[in-house]
Amino acid sequence: GSTLGDAAAESGRYFGTAIAGYKLSDSVYETIANREFSMITAENEMKIDATEPQQGQFSFSAGDQIADWAAQNGKQVRGHTLAWHSQQPSWMQNMEGSALRQAMLDHVTQVATHYRGQIYAWDVVNEAFADGGTGARRDSNLQRTGDDWIEAAFRAARAADPGAKLCYNDYNIDNWSWAKTQAAYDMVADFKARGVPIDCVGLQSHFNSGSPYPANYRTTLESFAALGVDVQITELDIEGSGQQQADTYRQVVEDCLAVSRCNGITVWGVRDSDSWRSSGTPLLFDGNGNKKEAYYATLDALNGG
Ligand code: G3I
Repeated sequence: GSTLGDAAAESGRYFGTAIAGYKLSDSVYETIANREFSMITAENEMKIDATEPQQGQFSFSAGDQIADWAAQNGKQVRGHTLAWHSQQPSWMQNMEGSALRQAMLDHVTQVATHYRGQIYAWDVVNEAFADGGTGARRDSNLQRTGDDWIEAAFRAARAADPGAKLCYNDYNIDNWSWAKTQAAYDMVADFKARGVPIDCVGLQSHFNSGSPYPANYRTTLESFAALGVDVQITELDIEGSGQQQADTYRQVVEDCLAVSRCNGITVWGVRDSDSWRSSGTPLLFDGNGNKKEAYYATLDALNGG
């Protein structure tokens, strides 16, 4: 294949990007996004604060803009994200207990219902485990409603959109030897054992000096997959530049291709200048939209090179 999406499709996979809706009017941005990618994630527009700014009053126009652009251009959509401790609207930040639990479930139901039939996979729950060596759940208002809030969110999402794959998504679950990875693994194993509806695990894979690409990444992908879920690389970016960065992108792609249930890779933005990292050059295109060494390595690896 001569584009990332076409090359990934040759092995039955997708290659995606995060899209900021307001940038679709930038023709350099839109041209690259349309040409290279087969899966789209809304970078912010389907999050809780965007879709339910006031309790019970839903706002889908920004998310719909992205979903419509994707559909018009023959692309699939990953939904991001239904339940998260962050980017909650202020009304939700101020809630707790059973009222919050019900508000969260209502949110999951309403948003998944609105997008029913348009979403390949939902990040149902995002970033629910704590950083560091404890393997504990992250403390949050949602966690304080009870340990079962995650499975409750998954059940609500399944009921609202039975056709979407349902994913648990997190960062720093890439290194197999880290406690956070093991904690997420144990939760997924428990969900599979008890029949909680979960179909996939999203490894965000934001790699930088503090959490570099780990040599055991393939082991992590294989281990999650062996539980009977798909694994998807959902927010890939790699700090660095030049050949070293290109080599790491190549390794990530090779690891995914080596695991049959690793069925797609999404990078978290189009050009370096689109990255959430205000400094750095973690993506595949430079600020002018030129292909970087990292792009060519990624394409070559997707093509089996
Ligand atoms: O839209 C407002 C704008 O009106 C305002 O003037 C401006 C001033 O700060 O803020 C704008 O909102 C910002 C929004 O991005 C849109 O640009 C928010 O402040 C900013 O916090 C938000 O950042 C996003 C971040 O999630 C928030 O948690 C990033 O774009 C987005 O890339 C990032 O994505 C997350 C994933 O969802 C989950 N995994 C980690 C990843 C990177 O942090």
